[in-house]
Amino acid sequence: MGLRSFLQYLIQSPILFLYQLIQWALDKVLSPTPPPPQAELKRPKIAVIGAGLTGVSAASHIVGHGFDCRIFEAGPKDNLGGIWSRVNNTSGLQIHSLMYRFHPSVQWKKGYPDRKQIVSQITDLWHRYGLEDKTTFNTRIEKVYKDPHGRWILNDPSLGRFDGIIAAVGTCGDAKMPTLPGQEHFKGEIWHSSQLDGKSAKGKTVAIIGGGASAVEALEFVAQSEAAHSYVLARSEKWIIPRNPLINGLLAMNVLGSETIFSWIPENILRLFFYRDLYDISPPRNSGKGLFTETPMVNDDVLDLVRSGKASWLRGDILGYDTSGRGINFNKRSQGVPKNGPGTEKLIEADIVIMATGYKRPTLNFLPSEVFADPYAPPNWYLQVFPPDYPELCCNNCTYVNAIGTVGNYHIGIYTRFLLMYLVDPLARPRTAWMKRWIDMTRFIKSKAPGGAFEFFTYSELIYWFVFTIAINPFRWKWALFVLCGIGKDLPLKVVENEDRVRNGMGMSNVWDDVKGGEARWIGGKSNGE
Ligand SMILES: Cc1cc2nc3c(=O)[nH]c(=O)nc-3n(C[C@H](O)[C@H](O)[C@H](O)COP(=O)(O)OP(=O)(O)OC[C@H]3O[C@@H](n4cnc5c(N)ncnc54)[C@H](O)[C@@H]3O)c2cc1C
Ligand SMILES: NC(=O)c1ccc[n+]([C@@H]2O[C@H](COP(=O)([O-])OP(=O)(O)OC[C@H]3O[C@@H](n4cnc5c(N)ncnc54)[C@H](OP(=O)(O)O)[C@@H]3O)[C@@H](O)[C@H]2O)c1
Repeated sequence: MGLRSFLQYLIQSPILFLYQLIQWALDKVLSPTPPPPQAELKRPKIAVIGAGLTGVSAASHIVGHGFDCRIFEAGPKDNLGGIWSRVNNTSGLQIHSLMYRFHPSVQWKKGYPDRKQIVSQITDLWHRYGLEDKTTFNTRIEKVYKDPHGRWILNDPSLGRFDGIIAAVGTCGDAKMPTLPGQEHFKGEIWHSSQLDGKSAKGKTVAIIGGGASAVEALEFVAQSEAAHSYVLARSEKWIIPRNPLINGLLAMNVLGSETIFSWIPENILRLFFYRDLYDISPPRNSGKGLFTETPMVNDDVLDLVRSGKASWLRGDILGYDTSGRGINFNKRSQGVPKNGPGTEKLIEADIVIMATGYKRPTLNFLPSEVFADPYAPPNWYLQVFPPDYPELCCNNCTYVNAIGTVGNYHIGIYTRFLLMYLVDPLARPRTAWMKRWIDMTRFIKSKAPGGAFEFFTYSELIYWFVFTIAINPFRWKWALFVLCGIGKDLPLKVVENEDRVRNGMGMSNVWDDVKGGEARWIGGKSNGE
């Protein structure tokens, strides 16, 4: 950029300029340096399952800190970017990209990037950290197990042996396309909300089934393509909150991560100043659907579309397609009336039906069966992602149920570095009993949380978990800066090396050996090979 265009940019878009400057500084301070081509990376070697933004970001942190990894992706190379590689071009972030910094080197050009910009940031990251040579596509992981030395094998030994695993399979798999009663009668078209590219609803009446973020996106799509009228048919209520990073950030700052006696304050403020005349479509008071119970949708336009008369948002039950083929029979319920409760039946005439009914959850069934045993089944795991029997397994972003926060943010790096710390430092590694104690303690603290302790969390609660579990164990203190910010790993590594020398000198086995009964592993820069 020449000086002239630089000055023009600065004057015309000062906020965007400041945003770029902040991102540049974050990159300089926090991004690990990409390894040079052909660099010899050290053990521990980590298998990363999934090449969405979580897998790519985790892998780039691993190699950036000098350790080895391999990504296994079920789909072909076109699937790089995970779910974002498979949705509409019109899809984009609902939350501000400030909260979607899945790697410190990500450079957003605007506040709310679209699908293409997100995929291009993931692809650039993949290239920048030389992950082309470390990714195996068309390889679905179906089982993981340990060899006699305690190293992990994925599917079969031909894929290698690993010291740890990051499962990054996401929460949005194949599109869910339920068949509704009487579907064979419908004369119009039926689309899934993720398959709208190249389609137009101009002049048509559209019924959108579902009341989640995809329904909101589909409504925006049909409004832009000048549909005659759109109906959102939602069988349950979810909160919609304004697209404002300050408000979103403030809500994410509830460190308790659940409803509190003060939750009525933001809820009533939203009803009064955001929903206003449409407060009827907000979740009813005392219904158990507080703001801190389910992931809210972040959107400014939907309520305006309803106010303008271009769209209707109806709460109720889908009874099925009408035998006339003209649309859907719908039982419209009033606020507070439960699913399948009494209501008013009406025919919603439609030319097009969009199924905004979500995605199937990818399975974690490839993990050892004991990680699913109650009462420590996912998401009731240590820090929500480490099964208590296996601190070397990190299921990053795939045990997630609901949150006020975001999937694509700094925690991806933090979780990856927790795993690295556990693998290289036997004294910092949590024991199964302590992991269970932490889960029990969090359950106790959140015993009043509707739905359970780990089904909903806020971003500040996540940060509290991280800081707490570092502070509680003095052997982790030396790692604090590295785990939380990704800087300063040399000092703790040196300490670990010396601690290990002392243990060996005293003829003691290290904690890792005690726990696993296996051979000694990677110690401060030495590799014991495959
Ligand atoms: C339209 C849309 C908009 C969204 N917007 C937001 C938003 O604004 N904010 C937000 O926080 N979240 C949003 N999300 C949620 C989104 O899922 C996450 O933000 C994020 O993209 C998840 O990335 P991921 O890498 O964890 O998972 P994914 O992107 O789903 O990637 C997982 C990868 O793992 C692969 N895989 C699965 N199983 C296996 C296996 N057994 N073996 C090998 N590979 C496997 C899959 O093929 C896939 O490529 C949105 C989702 C959608 C659909
Ligand atoms: N830009 C964005 O930020 C964006 C856009 C899209 C998606 N996403 C994310 O992607 C994930 C999936 O979102 P989503 O909206 O696709 O799915 P979702 O949140 O699971 O919502 C699906 C909706 O469809 C309804 N539904 C499901 N099956 C139905 C059936 N048989 N009959 C009637 N209604 C049915 C559900 O009702 P019930 O709730 O009653 O089951 C729910 O309202 C979420 O994490 C979301 O945040 C984000």
